[in-house]
Amino acid sequence: MSAPASDRTASPLIFELGQEGRATQYVEHGKPLRSFMPEGVLRDDLPLPDNTELDVVRHYTRLSQRTFGIDVGFYPLGSCTMKHNPKVNDALAGVREFAELHPFTPDDLSQGALQVMYELERSFCSLFGMAAFSLNPAAGAQAELAALLIAKKYFRERGETQRDKVIVPDTAHGTNPASAAMCGFKVISLKSDARGRVDPAEIRTVVGPDTAVCMMTNPNTLGLFEERIHEIADAVHEAGGLMYYDGANANALMGNTRPGDMGFDLMHLNTHKTFTIPHGGGGAGHGPLGVAGHLVEYLPTPYVVREGDRFRLDFDRPKSIGPVRSFWSNFAHVVRALAYLYANGAEGLTKVSQYAVLNANYMRVKVAEFLETPYPEICRHEFVASAQQLKKETGVRALDIAKALLDRGYMAPTIYFPLIVPECLMIEPTETESKETLDGFVAALRDIIETAKTNPQELLDAPVTTVVGRVDETRAARQPDLRWRPPR
Ligand SMILES: Cc1ncc(COP(=O)(O)O)c(C=O)c1O
Repeated sequence: MSAPASDRTASPLIFELGQEGRATQYVEHGKPLRSFMPEGVLRDDLPLPDNTELDVVRHYTRLSQRTFGIDVGFYPLGSCTMKHNPKVNDALAGVREFAELHPFTPDDLSQGALQVMYELERSFCSLFGMAAFSLNPAAGAQAELAALLIAKKYFRERGETQRDKVIVPDTAHGTNPASAAMCGFKVISLKSDARGRVDPAEIRTVVGPDTAVCMMTNPNTLGLFEERIHEIADAVHEAGGLMYYDGANANALMGNTRPGDMGFDLMHLNTHKTFTIPHGGGGAGHGPLGVAGHLVEYLPTPYVVREGDRFRLDFDRPKSIGPVRSFWSNFAHVVRALAYLYANGAEGLTKVSQYAVLNANYMRVKVAEFLETPYPEICRHEFVASAQQLKKETGVRALDIAKALLDRGYMAPTIYFPLIVPECLMIEPTETESKETLDGFVAALRDIIETAKTNPQELLDAPVTTVVGRVDETRAARQPDLRWRPPR
């Protein structure tokens, strides 16, 4: 028996997939929750370990000291925007009225939470030039998948099912082609030109009646702005395709330009990057998905609507692709993101991006004194260096530099990405670091390059000061050992 959308407090309630795989309704089965659980996971009796509180506190404190995070030190992981996560955001997300609100609370009793979602959504629209956002997706990659499902449905309804190709530049993050492939599209990889950009003439050679979507990151993953983005968007649109903006690098452009104005039809944000949300905090991250006017009806459900001064979750959107995750969003992250947004305001966010760009260029010029920087021009929020020449001269690779940085108290930059730069180090300092921190990191990197010339073995053995030394990366990736073992 289906329960009306307004009666979502009955218990136990579970998702039920309706026709066409749309998970739009909740049903009461009138059976105990146990009856939905597989036999193998049911327990009648669970022996608890016999530990004192002090044992437990020491255990977790020790564990917390074995890891490295932004609260411990500089974390220039390119494309990840590891900036300071203001603690006031956590305090607000922890406010009892937010933290204890059950997702099935009726709309009448959750007006404040719905208003928070609505205001974040509206703010994103104005900041990024989109008509609407869904706060549903739990990560950038999930938003990519949802966006491509929207594109697929949009073309199916227009009778253009022959559109089965997604164009992705060779600097794109791996999730772009992976999302396209998962959605059943064929991926066309586009070679970047000598300046690390997509050439609109090149795009014109691949677009056609089979083009569904072109996925672009701007600034791209080399940290370079695609200044001919309008020509690229025109070429794709003239062929009848859609433009998707991968917003992983949105920290470079807030208040200075907007994806909507560049001609994008769909986009995602990674609030765990641009909006100071802890990466992975409270489970998954948060990847809001924005769309232009012609695609609003396809957004995942539910969507928060405002009626006068009231708010409600709208499940009744017939063209929607349906929900893409459980419940309505990673709500604690929605609170954190709105807190950050309001704390800075439009002017503050513009400055955020300008300082992110300034810091990256300051470091780029300093690093170029001792390491190749293959694109020696003004970058945006990040830049790439290459250890190719160093490797030829000394045998020391980007990987060894990364490990040696750990010994000097820094998190390593992203390495071996983007793939088109050999022995790549991709450095993103963010706007929240001081000049002293940037100088300290540059000095450590300079010291490593000098050590490569005098004592390369020291770098090949690194790291020696961390809890875990040099690991076999390939084996760790292919045969991960995820079992818990008691501390020795
Ligand atoms: C350029 C780019 N696109 C997409 C993603 C995927 O985002 P998420 O990790 O939120 O799934 C990333 C993640 O690092 C990225 O750097």
